Amino acid sequence: MTLPAPTVPAPTTAPTELRVGVIGLGFAGTTHLDAYTALPGVTVVALAGQEESRLAELGRTRGVPNLYHDWQDLVARDDLDIVSIGVPNHLHHPIALAALASGKHVFCEKPLATTGALAAEMTDAALTNNRVLEIAFNHRRRGDVRLLKDYLASTELGRIYHARASWRRRSGIPGIGSWFTNRAMSGGGPMIDLGSHVLDIVLYLLGEPRVLSVSAVDYGEVGRLGRGGASNSQTTGGTQTFEVEDFAFALLRLDNGASIQLEASWADYTAHDNDISVDLLGSMGGASLFVRDHATDDTLRLHSEVHGASAITVPRVHVPGGEHRLVIEEFLATIRSGQWANSYGEYALHRSRVLDAVYESARINKEVNVA
Ligand SMILES: NC(=O)c1ccc[n+]([C@@H]2O[C@H](COP(=O)([O-])OP(=O)(O)OC[C@H]3O[C@@H](n4cnc5c(N)ncnc54)[C@H](O)[C@@H]3O)[C@@H](O)[C@H]2O)c1
Repeated sequence: MTLPAPTVPAPTTAPTELRVGVIGLGFAGTTHLDAYTALPGVTVVALAGQEESRLAELGRTRGVPNLYHDWQDLVARDDLDIVSIGVPNHLHHPIALAALASGKHVFCEKPLATTGALAAEMTDAALTNNRVLEIAFNHRRRGDVRLLKDYLASTELGRIYHARASWRRRSGIPGIGSWFTNRAMSGGGPMIDLGSHVLDIVLYLLGEPRVLSVSAVDYGEVGRLGRGGASNSQTTGGTQTFEVEDFAFALLRLDNGASIQLEASWADYTAHDNDISVDLLGSMGGASLFVRDHATDDTLRLHSEVHGASAITVPRVHVPGGEHRLVIEEFLATIRSGQWANSYGEYALHRSRVLDAVYESARINKEVNVA
C-alpha cells in the first residue's frame, strides 16, 4: 500500500519541556499521569475524565491546572505536545485521530483499537501528520523479558520452532457489565485485553515474524452465568451485558515456519490465579517465563544441556515494576530525538490484525488468514 507523504514537517528539535494532556482516570489514566509527573522535562497541563470527584482529586494532588469532563475539550487545546489515552478501547480511535490531526503526538493504551481496520486508520493518521503513535505494551518492558531478549541475541537456542504464550486468570473478569464486557466498546474479552500483551511479548522475543494465519476457538461460559468477576474491579461505563468471550485459544502460523499457541482467559476453573506464561521451544535449548500475579522475582528458567544432562538455569533477575514509566520514557525520548520514521504504531497494527483473525476464526470455525 502506498501511503500519502507526511503533511506536517517533523521539527528538527523537539521542545525541551513537553506539555501533556492525559485522558482517563482509571488504572490506565492514573498510571500515565503518575509516570509523566515523575519524569523530568514534561508537564501534565490538562486531564480529562467523567468521574467528577476523582477528576478534582487527581487535579489537586498531581497539580494539574486544567480539568475536563469530555476528551474533546482537552484535545481542542492548542498548547499540547502530547495526548495520552487511557480510556475504553472504542474511544482510542476517535481521540487519536483528533489529536494526530491537530499535530499532537499520541500515547495510546493497548489494544490500539477495537479492530484492525480502525487501527490502520490510526497508523495512517500518525504517518500523514508525521507524529509519533506509541502504544502501552508495558509488559514487554519487564526486566525479565528484556533479559530474555538479550539472551536470545547472544545464545544459540537453534531454531525456535514453537512458542506458548498465555495470560490466564482464575476469576478476573474486569467488571461484568462494564465497558470491558460490551463488545462494541471493548472489541472482545481476554484475548484483546490480556492476549494482546502476551502476543506482543512473544512477537517481540521472536524478532517480529509476521503471523500468516490463525485457527481459534473462544467461549463465554463462565461470564455469561455472571461468575468469574474480579473482586477489585473498578471500571466504568457499559451496558450491564456480557457479550464477549471469557476464554480464547489460538494457533498462529508464522511466516518463518514456526508457530505460536496463544491463550487468554479472564476466568476459568483451573489452578491459575493471574498467570503470564511464555515458553520458547528451540532445537538446541529453550526458555520459560512464568509470572504469577505480577511477580517481580524468580520468573525465568533457561533450558539447556550440560554434558548430555538436561540443565535449568535460573537467572537472578529482579523486575522493579513501573513498566508504564519505561515505555513512556521511550516515547518521550523518541519525540525529543526528532527521529521517528518507524514510530507510527505499525507493529501494534499487526497485533490488531492478528486479533481480528482470532475472533473471525472462532466465529466461523475455520482457519483465517491475517490481513
Ligand atoms: N497496559 C496496561 O497494563 C493496562 C491496564 C489496564 C487497562 N489498560 C487499558 O487502558 C484503557 C482504560 O482501562 P481502565 O481499566 O483504566 O478503564 P476504566 O474504566 O477504569 O477508566 C476509563 C476512564 O475513561 C474515562 N472516559 C470514558 N469516556 C470518556 C470521555 N468521553 N471523555 C473523557 N474521559 C472518558 C472514564 O471517565 C474513566 O476515567 C483500556 O484501553 C484498557 O485496555 C491497560
